[in-house]
Amino acid sequence: MNLEGNIIREGSTDLFVPEAISERGPGKIEGRVFFNRQMAFNRDVSVALFHSVIKPRKCLDAMAATGARGIRICNEAPGNYRFIINDKDSLASDHIQHNIELNSLDNAEVSNADLRCLLAKEIFDYIDLDPFGTPIPFVPSALQGMSRKGILAVTATDTASLSGTHPGKCRRRYMANSQRNPFLHESGLRIMIGTIVRMAAQEDKGVTPLLCYYADHYFRLFLRTKDGAGAADASLELLGMMSYDRTTGERKVGEGKIGPLWLGPLMDHETISEATVPEGLECQERVRQHFDIWKEELDVPYYYETNELAAMLKLSPPGRDELLEVMRSIGKVSRTNFSPTGFRTDRPLEEVLEAFRSIC
Ligand SMILES: C[S@@+](CC[C@H](N)C(=O)[O-])C[C@H]1O[C@@H](n2cnc3c(N)ncnc32)[C@H](O)[C@@H]1O
Repeated sequence: MNLEGNIIREGSTDLFVPEAISERGPGKIEGRVFFNRQMAFNRDVSVALFHSVIKPRKCLDAMAATGARGIRICNEAPGNYRFIINDKDSLASDHIQHNIELNSLDNAEVSNADLRCLLAKEIFDYIDLDPFGTPIPFVPSALQGMSRKGILAVTATDTASLSGTHPGKCRRRYMANSQRNPFLHESGLRIMIGTIVRMAAQEDKGVTPLLCYYADHYFRLFLRTKDGAGAADASLELLGMMSYDRTTGERKVGEGKIGPLWLGPLMDHETISEATVPEGLECQERVRQHFDIWKEELDVPYYYETNELAAMLKLSPPGRDELLEVMRSIGKVSRTNFSPTGFRTDRPLEEVLEAFRSIC
């Protein structure tokens, strides 16, 4: 094998990557084998979950490019699991093989196949989809190749279509109506989950979020899947519509034009409360901060933006912590990882506005 590239270190793992790599943003396709440094946080979160709360046995990194994610998990998260690290491009699979050897891994093997062929033949407990853009074309294969109870992990970089910038594309791809609103990334993520719930229901599988989030320029979903008509029905029960009124700021759940979307929790709080962040991650502090917020985030299917409310009331926005302090005296309130200036509460909008006025 005569590959051109460089060895970099991400987290506690050495990775052989091509000469031309993306440094930030959604990542430009520079050559045949793709690597984006900014996805280190995304891979860190996978390592953290494998480290403490995800315990599958047979795992597939289905669209692996250099193999960065699967290689890092195998190297950094101890456990009794095996990874097949796959890419349909033969040069990518050469990189994967090189990275397996570079890290002396005995719990990983390379595969060079179209994931659709692989998943028609083999069953996995954990399947990771990380395409360029929408993952939807690959979801049916992943559902087909999933064990009776499994974990489907998905990265989606087509956030603009889901968050109201391209409503036509969202209708075609996700069979749902999107909207540009102050919580657009959350409504986009919920549309994405809702679409996968509906696709899984067609095959009598239920889907529930283990952890779903938005970061940088992408959505990331860890979904538990479970075979059975009852599980599928239970997931469908948590789909619905919602609305947002631009003039009043009012959000309504159960009616409206946004959706269908997932209205249930974005994570399994019991599991996430047990997650620990291992040492040696690439974005150690950022991962720790995110887990701290995930552990406190309320299950309300939208958040408020301090800037949005300030503009409505024609006041200057207070600091989020100051607002949270006041809100705590009237109800439940939490920060949200969707926005550094956003917050969730179980109180109605008029009480939120009253609290807002009292400190501005
Ligand atoms: C965004 S890159 C993956 C990045 C990688 N997971 C990482 O963390 O660096 C997408 C990869 O999917 C591969 N791919 C696209 N379609 C595929 C298919 N049908 N089966 C397997 N791999 C595929 C591409 O060759 C490309 O390497």
